[in-house]
Amino acid sequence: MRLTFLPFSQPSITEEDIAAVTAVLRSKWITTGRKCLEFENKFTARVDSLGAVAVTSATGGMHLLLKTLNINPGDEIITPSLTWVSTPNLIELTGAKPVWADVDRDNLMTSAEMVEPLITDRTRAIIPVHFAGAPADLDPLRKLAHKKNIPLIEDAAHAVGSVYRDHPVGSTGIAVFSFHPIKNFTTGEGGLITADDQELLDRLRVLRFHGLEKDAFDHKVWERRPQAQVLEPGYKYNLTDLAAALGLSQLNRLDEMNARRRTLAEFYLKQLAEIPELKPLSPPTWPHLHVWHLFVVRLIKPGLSRNEFIERLKHHNIGSGLHFLAAHTHNWYRQKETRHLDLSNTEWNSERLLSLPLFPDMTEDDLKDVIEAIKASLIGD
Ligand SMILES: Cc1ncc(COP(=O)(O)O)c(C=O)c1O
Repeated sequence: MRLTFLPFSQPSITEEDIAAVTAVLRSKWITTGRKCLEFENKFTARVDSLGAVAVTSATGGMHLLLKTLNINPGDEIITPSLTWVSTPNLIELTGAKPVWADVDRDNLMTSAEMVEPLITDRTRAIIPVHFAGAPADLDPLRKLAHKKNIPLIEDAAHAVGSVYRDHPVGSTGIAVFSFHPIKNFTTGEGGLITADDQELLDRLRVLRFHGLEKDAFDHKVWERRPQAQVLEPGYKYNLTDLAAALGLSQLNRLDEMNARRRTLAEFYLKQLAEIPELKPLSPPTWPHLHVWHLFVVRLIKPGLSRNEFIERLKHHNIGSGLHFLAAHTHNWYRQKETRHLDLSNTEWNSERLLSLPLFPDMTEDDLKDVIEAIKASLIGD
């Protein structure tokens, strides 16, 4: 058995990353400034979008986007229940109601066919999730959203570098990325919105910082003009230059980090082909580039619960994650939901899934340790 604990995720931090952040510290300008702008511009170029607004988290970014929808009580937003709770929580907090879409049983993503029957005249947005690093099937979702004139907001928290049919996620439409440390790309904490609508980008920039005029920044002294006017009440979700410097440095290695994840994922897939009790997700059937933010498996062994299996792995010094417990099963949402929900794929997965360790600095020996621990845990060792 391995002697040290293997976490399920760990950020990849190099000396270059440390030097980039240190340089910002030495510059004495550590909040939002030149680095943040440079990061937004490089990210925009990388995903080929019209523009980008960097924020403190994907949650903050989603909050800003929901604010632009002018939600009224009783409005509905369609999103999978198999997502991180941040999205349904924000939907609730803005006064709307989450309407749960089911997901494909094996790629864990929702689709136009699953979303369409849920649309009503109160639907204000559709929020699909690009799951675990694979892109959702965007073309039919976009077509549906366009036909019904409903905004489509892509939750791209797992999808930095992911590609859908030759187009980087974020290149068209509205997408929100997360740079939380467990993601495949990090700024410590952070997030970013891409959009192909200049008016929306301008409004998000205003909302990101107290609702102050977007040209309130004096580029000569690189300070905000003290006379800047509030255009509408806003929030405080600006990304610091410290975080942006880490992002800029990480962008240089994004392809390398994602390629390493892909190699590790392929090793897992090969090994797990001989372990029928653990069923990995299926890759999407549409052309794509997967960035393997997570390696999710479903435990299928009568008499052994997922939670017990996680405990056994821990006993073998192997960490694991849980992405996700279906949102509609959380206390708050369970008590609120009164309709009969057909979320059979979501519920089947929510009870069985777990995420195995996957991060660029993992070694082949670490992977072998995981496989050994899996085998031992399955037989109760
Ligand atoms: C699917 C999904 N959406 C949104 C978020 C929120 O991201 P952040 O932590 O940057 O707010 C996460 C974070 O884990 C996520 O997994």
